[in-house]
Amino acid sequence: MIGLGIGWRLAAAGCRVDVFERDIAGRGASWAAAGMLAAGVETEPGEMALHALNRSSQQLWPDFARTLESASGLPVGYRAEGTLRVALTRDDAARLRATYEFQRRGGIALEWLTGADARRREPHLAAGIAAGVFSPEDHQVDNRLVVPALIAALRRAGGRLHEHAEVDRIEIANGRAIGVRVGEDLVSADAVVLAAGAWSRDIGGLPPVVRPPVRPVKGQMLALRMDPGTPMLRHVLWTPRAYLVPRANGRLIVGASVEERGFDPSLTAGAMFALLDAAWRALPGTEELPIDEMWTGFRPGSRDDAPILGPCMVDRLVLATGHHRNGILLTPVTADAISRLVLTGESDPAIEPFGLNRFVPPRQAREMA
Ligand code: GLY
Repeated sequence: MIGLGIGWRLAAAGCRVDVFERDIAGRGASWAAAGMLAAGVETEPGEMALHALNRSSQQLWPDFARTLESASGLPVGYRAEGTLRVALTRDDAARLRATYEFQRRGGIALEWLTGADARRREPHLAAGIAAGVFSPEDHQVDNRLVVPALIAALRRAGGRLHEHAEVDRIEIANGRAIGVRVGEDLVSADAVVLAAGAWSRDIGGLPPVVRPPVRPVKGQMLALRMDPGTPMLRHVLWTPRAYLVPRANGRLIVGASVEERGFDPSLTAGAMFALLDAAWRALPGTEELPIDEMWTGFRPGSRDDAPILGPCMVDRLVLATGHHRNGILLTPVTADAISRLVLTGESDPAIEPFGLNRFVPPRQAREMA
């Protein structure tokens, strides 16, 4: 979604755009994700700079969704019921209270709920829910609808998408990116944007100093099937050990493990058991629901879990990767800021803290200058 979003914006601005995808576009983390636009409840201590970026992208989402729907003629499933976070026990409630206090101090709009309040909002919650927090600004979008919408919008704007077309190397001459090599072909370009998600580090041709420090962070997930006419859940729901995301078509996404296992695509009994158990403890009715799908995905995690955005030491090579748990949320701000950078050379202050140079030791940076 990051690459398609930037490509769409650039094509809409009149550029000749070619997007290269080694497989099928949008079938990596974009497909695996749950689509939560959670700038609020996912914020952890030490992440306030990232929170500012997340928040600005969250504010862009309603307009991004409308523009994308009209540019593509396809729905994207943006839903605005907000997010509910629940504590199952008194210990969970004490931890939730501490997180709530921290997030409120950071200016995040949240509402503390008793267990009874939480059950009034979601009547299928377990009877013993100890407490809850309502986050009125954390919504969701259906990422598996956004992907085809971005592809259609890119194409309608004149951009070209090349699938099963792996970039073998980024071609660099005299310190400047001049295009990409795809098989026998050299496709020349005024600028190259690297947006290869968890695979960004492994693209050929990159000097070591600009190889983004991105690794795959495995997530296992599953989907249950609710009756869309009488859904068991309407809000995005966070329990202490899983999140649940209800879709309009009745799918109930349950996620996710967070594992350092490289590109291991296997589904494990332990992870599926943990997710089903966590879902059942909060929403006992899930016991009766059919399983629709189980899958794994690979978040592009950087060393500090924040994205890597903007220029690097190779002229005209722009990085847009490392979005970790926030790729869907950060698509609008990334598409706007990176397309502006390519078009005008201006760097949006919103992305300044997220340059690759934060990982380059000062001595090495001086030597490269
Ligand atoms: N943002 C949810 C996840 O990464 O699992």
